[in-house]
Formats: sequence, structure tokens, C-alpha cells
Amino acid sequence: MSKAAERAEKLRAELRAHNERYYVQDDPSIGDDQYDELLDELRQIERDQPELVTADSPTQRVGAEPVSALEKVTHPQAMFSLANARSAEEFDGWVTRMRNHLAREGIDDAKFRYVCEPKVDGLAISIVYRDGLLERGATRGNGEVGEDVTHNLRTIPTVPLSIEDAPPMIEVRGEVYMSLEGFQSLNERRASDGKPTFMNPRNAAAGTLRQLDPRLAAERPLSLWAYGVGACEGIAFDSQWETLEWLRQRGFPVNSEIERLDSEQAAIDRCLAWQQRRGSLSFEIDGVVIKLDDAEQQRRLGVVGRDPRWAVAWKFPPTTKITELKEVQWSVGKFGDLHPFAVLEPVEVGGVVVQHATLHNEEDLIRKDVRPGDEVIILRAGDVIPQVVSPAPHAAERKGRSGPLAAPKKCPICGEATVKPGNSVFTKCPNRQCEGRREALLTHFVSRGAMDIDGLGEKLVVMLLEQGLIENAADLYGLSVEQLAALDGMGELSAQAISDALEESKMRPFASVLFALGIEGVGEVTGRSLSQRLRTIDALLAADVDEVSQTPGVGPIVGQLIVDQLADPQMQSLIAALRTAGLQFEQQGPPPGEGPLAGKAFVLTGALPTLTREQASEKILAAGGRVTTSVSKKTDYLVAGEAAGSKLEKAERLEVTVLDEASLLSLLGDA
Ligand code: IVH
Repeated sequence: MSKAAERAEKLRAELRAHNERYYVQDDPSIGDDQYDELLDELRQIERDQPELVTADSPTQRVGAEPVSALEKVTHPQAMFSLANARSAEEFDGWVTRMRNHLAREGIDDAKFRYVCEPKVDGLAISIVYRDGLLERGATRGNGEVGEDVTHNLRTIPTVPLSIEDAPPMIEVRGEVYMSLEGFQSLNERRASDGKPTFMNPRNAAAGTLRQLDPRLAAERPLSLWAYGVGACEGIAFDSQWETLEWLRQRGFPVNSEIERLDSEQAAIDRCLAWQQRRGSLSFEIDGVVIKLDDAEQQRRLGVVGRDPRWAVAWKFPPTTKITELKEVQWSVGKFGDLHPFAVLEPVEVGGVVVQHATLHNEEDLIRKDVRPGDEVIILRAGDVIPQVVSPAPHAAERKGRSGPLAAPKKCPICGEATVKPGNSVFTKCPNRQCEGRREALLTHFVSRGAMDIDGLGEKLVVMLLEQGLIENAADLYGLSVEQLAALDGMGELSAQAISDALEESKMRPFASVLFALGIEGVGEVTGRSLSQRLRTIDALLAADVDEVSQTPGVGPIVGQLIVDQLADPQMQSLIAALRTAGLQFEQQGPPPGEGPLAGKAFVLTGALPTLTREQASEKILAAGGRVTTSVSKKTDYLVAGEAAGSKLEKAERLEVTVLDEASLLSLLGDA
């Protein structure tokens, strides 16, 4: 080996070691200037003799050319997600499910050990090393296929470009994130450059990792926590703990506060401890991941849907924030019901800027007694609509100016005098022509679970109404692509897509159409029961109160309500128009008691990988099966997807057969 080659190799080893001390151990032994000197010397050698450049040289982190698009990458092994536990009870439920599962395999007194890891709020990634060299890094994507972000991952100082003592192939899994400090300084820099700032560290990390030009990623403070191994060849691990140790030894950043614990109680205590410290960490976490340590136990437990049975995410309670309530306004629901909502001083809650929050109904508003000018607590749980919880604790001395707020005497949209029916928590606008009401009805009609028209939401509905292009749901089906394309902010392609979605919606089953019509008392489940029992719109229109009331979930009062609404001439002409448009007004498939799955009762829980719940129900119904909402001894099958919770637990206790989507489909196929 030449002198220069030797020197280059020595410099690379030294730089790598300093890098690790600096970034991973947080304990540098030389100053930045000395580091730069070494790096410059290496750069000089490599410039003089380009044949000495190696792929894993510290000079090569930003070496890659920008890519023109992110290529799709199929992961060597699917990247799973995690079921949640939100309390000690749910955690115990998880442990019980594992014990039951193993017991069915003949393993009775399994000894469990748990590894508790912070659930860092970033992006899951997979990095493949072949013969010790970083070959490819990809985002999680849908779990099967992600995007190639190798060029950007290489720029992260803590991502090893090569590993020593490596097997022929190993896929390292981890979370790319941005520290709070890095996030803040990035945003400050952007703000002073007049660029838009990122909402939260997660978005900043995701946006950065998906950049095409690696120079951008190199300028931004991304980090990695490694937490596992996916596919590998020529190596096997006996436990999660051993895996983490192996990664640590090869220079991967593994959080030093990960612990292995011997009992459930110790694991729960550890979760609670993380929860307490959440706000004082240097990065954002949204929970704790608890993994069964033993690899053989993991293997036996396997995967249900998309979630490994052997791991669970302890989720922290939902995020709350305090902000000023500026005003209480009222919106009109699809049955004329008035809903109060809060107009807020905009505030970021769990990654989303919140400006409006629901106050549910008048009683809720009075009970919470929040008034304009008050500081209020806002809660955003999961993906649900943010809500106002209460005045902030220190709001004892109210800044709030006006007295408690009652529902308006006049409809805020159409001005009609409001009424408060004795049996309702809502004050109502009785005007059936009210624009607010029309808008809510149409928004409901196109929503998921109803006609589910992709790309057509509240905003567009409002625009269509305002421009006089539609008056009711049936008019939607008369819209031309040209009319849609002429709308503000709409292109040819989106117009075509909406038109296609409308066309496709004509195939939605009768039950969905019934629900979409917006009949008070007919929710998704009742829509389904009515369509199953009465089977056609003509039978339903001809039915009397007694007949309608015999439907499960419908009593005489709701029955009367439904019959009255169906008798309304406006409703009848809407139904006629939708019929002409080609929507389904008859139940397909065999009547109950016939068909290959006749008499079989199904319950659905969790998110399935490809089917929506509605689609799964439709398939079951079409084969003559029944779909109910709660698991009992009478349930024949539980179809469980991602994040299945207590229903899965109950099904396992009652020894109800549990199916994943694939087995449901094969049951339907075979049946
Ligand atoms: S393990 C068991 N470990 O959480 C296989 N995931 O909902 C599942 N995450 O997509 C992944 N920290 O983005 C695992 N220590 C950790 C994690 C972690 C964060 C994220 C990851 C994944 C999601 C699962």
C-alpha cells in the first residue's frame, strides 16, 4: 500500500472515531478546528489521488448528486406498526393476549422480559448494509414499499457509512428525527431568511429526508435512533437487548436510557417515568415502545394484521394547550341543530395549528362556562376534532367579558327564529331551506361512510352551492367535468377525478345511500339494518311505523321520526332524482338466512390493510353473513386489523375465531 493510501486509511479511521465520540457519545476529545484539519488533509489526498476515495469515507457524506425523484423501494422485510396501550389495563390486556397465544401453542409459564424504548416522534427508516457498506436507506412508506432516501441518510453524521465485523446483509431499523434544539435553530434561520417555518420537528425531519438534493439535508440537523434489525443474513439475535447491544457496538446511536425489565409492573413504571420526563427531553416522544425481549417468544407470537403481537406502543395522553377564546360562534348541522364552536387565538397542538374547537352543544357550553376573552384549555386527541375542555386553571380572575353564552334566538345563517325541542340537547333552526343546513347535509352526503366521494369535501360543497351549481345531492350527479374544472383552484385532473368518484359512488350499496340521505335517526348501523330487513326503497317507503320500529336499534319514537321524514315531499323528490341518477336503492346479495355465510356473525375491529370497514362489511353481507358491533359468545368471527384493542382481547377470551384480512378474503373466496 502506498504511503498516501495508508495515511488516508488512518485519517478515515480517526475521523470516524472522532465522529462517534462527538455525535454518539457526546464526548469529543478534540476541538472542531483539529477535526477540520484532519478532514482537510484527507480531502487533499483524495483530490490528488481520486482512486483512493472509498464509499464510506467521511468526505463522502454529501458526495451524492441530487436525485430527480425518490425511487420506490420494496423493503426486504415488511415494516410493521404497533398496537397501542393507553393505560395499565390495556397494557395488561396485551400481556394476557400474549400469554393466551403462547398457551395455545402449548407454552404455559412463559417468563417475559420487556425492553422499554422511547417512541421518538420522527420517521421510521430502514438502512441496508451489504458486506458492511451502506447500500440503501428507505422510508417506511406503507410498510411494504418506501422511498429511497439513501442520498439524504448518508448526510446524517450518526448514520454509519460502513460497519465493522458485519454479516453479508443486515437491515438496520430506526427513527430519523430532529432534536428540539436543532428544530428551533433551523426555524429561526428560515424565519430570518423569509422562508416558511416548520410546524414541528417531525414535519421538519420528514420534509428534509424527502428532499432531492442531499446538500439541503446536510445543512439540517437530522439525527437517528437505531432500535432494531429487519432482514439479515448470516447472523441471528437471541433477544432485542442483544440486538441493541450489537448495534451500539457498531457505532449506531442507541438510546442509553433503554432498559430491560423483569416484570409488568416495572415496565409500566418505566412508561410512567418516561411520560413524566417527556417535556424535559431534548427530542419529542409520543410514547414508549415495549418489546418482548426474547426472540424465540417473538417468533412464536408472530404478527396480527400489521402489528407484531410481541410489541406495544404505550401512548401518552392526548396533548393539551392553553390559548385565548376569542369568540363563540354557532354552526348549523344537517338536521338544523345549532353547534357552538370556539374561535381561538391560533395555537399549535400536537403538530397542528388549531383555530377552531368544538364546544359540542349548548349545555356543554354552559357547564364549561367559558367566555370570550378567557384563556381556555384545548385538547386534541388523535385525529378527532379539537375540543375546548375548560377555562385554564389560572383563569380564576376571568378576563371574559360577557355573561354565559346561550344559543342564539335567531339562526346565525338564515335568521329564522330558533326552537328548542324538549327532547333535544340542541337548539334548532327549523328552516329546511336554511343554507347552513343544506351545506351540512351535502357535506354529510359526500363524506366517508356515506357516498365517500374522494376529493369532494366541505370547501367544494360550499363553492358549488354559492355558485348556484347545485341545490341538492342529486344535482352533484349532473355536474360536468367542465363545470367542475371551472371552479376556483381546480384543475382538469382533479375535476376528472371528482367526476370519476361520483360515477363510482353509484355502486355504493343501498345501506350507504340510506345513511347518506341524511335522515334523522338513520346512522350507519341503522341504515344497514333497514336495508337488510326491508331490502328496497319501495318497501321502506311503504312501511308503517310498526314495521320500521321492528328494525334492530329503532324504537317507536325513532320509527315515527323516520316515517315522517320519508313522507316529506322534498325527501321523496330527492330519492326519485337520485334513483334516476343511478344510485343503488335495493339491497344486493342474498337475503339474511341465505348465502354461503348465512347465519355467521362477524365483528370488525381495527384498521385492515386494504379494505375499509364498510367494504369488509359489504362483502360479508353480500355472502349472507351478519355484522354486529360487539363481541359475544354468539360471535363466530372477529376480523381484526391494526390497533385492534379490547374486542380482540374479548374474542381471545371467548375463544372466538380471529381472522386477519387475508383469511377473511380467503373465507369469502372459498365460501
Ligand atoms: S418498533 C415492532 N421501536 O413507531 C415493529 N418503533 O407504530 C414496530 N417508533 O413506524 C417498530 N420509536 O416510526 C419501534 N423504539 C421504537 C420506536 C418505533 C419510534 C415508531 C416507528 C414506527 C412506529 C410504530
